[in-house]
Amino acid sequence: MKKHKLTSGQQEELNYHTVKFNKRDPKTWVNNNYRRIITEDFGVKPDFFVNKSILDIGGGPGGGLYFSPFLKTKKRVIIDPLVKEFEELLKDFKNISGDVETIVGHAEDMPFSDGSFDLILSFNSLDHWDDWKKGMDEAIRVLKKGGKLLLYVNFYRPAKTDAHPHYIDEKSIDWIISRGLSVEFSKLKLHVKESGKKVKKYFGIFKKL
Ligand SMILES: C[S@@+](CC[C@H](N)C(=O)[O-])C[C@H]1O[C@@H](n2cnc3c(N)ncnc32)[C@H](O)[C@@H]1O
Repeated sequence: MKKHKLTSGQQEELNYHTVKFNKRDPKTWVNNNYRRIITEDFGVKPDFFVNKSILDIGGGPGGGLYFSPFLKTKKRVIIDPLVKEFEELLKDFKNISGDVETIVGHAEDMPFSDGSFDLILSFNSLDHWDDWKKGMDEAIRVLKKGGKLLLYVNFYRPAKTDAHPHYIDEKSIDWIISRGLSVEFSKLKLHVKESGKKVKKYFGIFKKL
């Protein structure tokens, strides 16, 4: 794999995931996290995805599409600046979906024409984008009219690090909605980490008008 120079934020991201994945057994490890996020946190049934063209922005190594082979989709694409590094990290893992197309790229400038996808997922990634407003406008551009955006993002304070350049909060969500979406579902969930730190997790389903 051709190596490219990583920014400090990307290096922080990659180190974090490498430590986590190196502790797992690639033959047996199954990630049930995404089934829970989809069916319990967003409250949608797997048939919500049937025959849909889906883009996961910032899919990362644990992305909603890799670990959701139970979803019967038409097309699954992940765009992420580190996707090739993550493929390397996942190469021996068995319980992942093999039919994901991966594209190295950024939310802020995506190589897709307008209205290319029925569904866009972005899980725990928006606060990692350099210019999240530009990225969100791009996400809305590549979504079909009537298509849905499933957004999960942490309202994290005070964890601003190189890998998390922004705080996202209620005002950010209002801004996103103002770009031409209607809200179909929205939920804030308080999560207490093992360290005792509290994180507010936001889950929203939006429809493109
Ligand atoms: C915390 S990980 C989340 C990964 C995955 N979605 C999940 O839920 O496990 C954040 C991801 O956002 C990606 N990312 C960072 N900047 C990005 C950008 N500008 N556009 C798209 N993805 C980006 C990172 O490479 C990383 O994979």
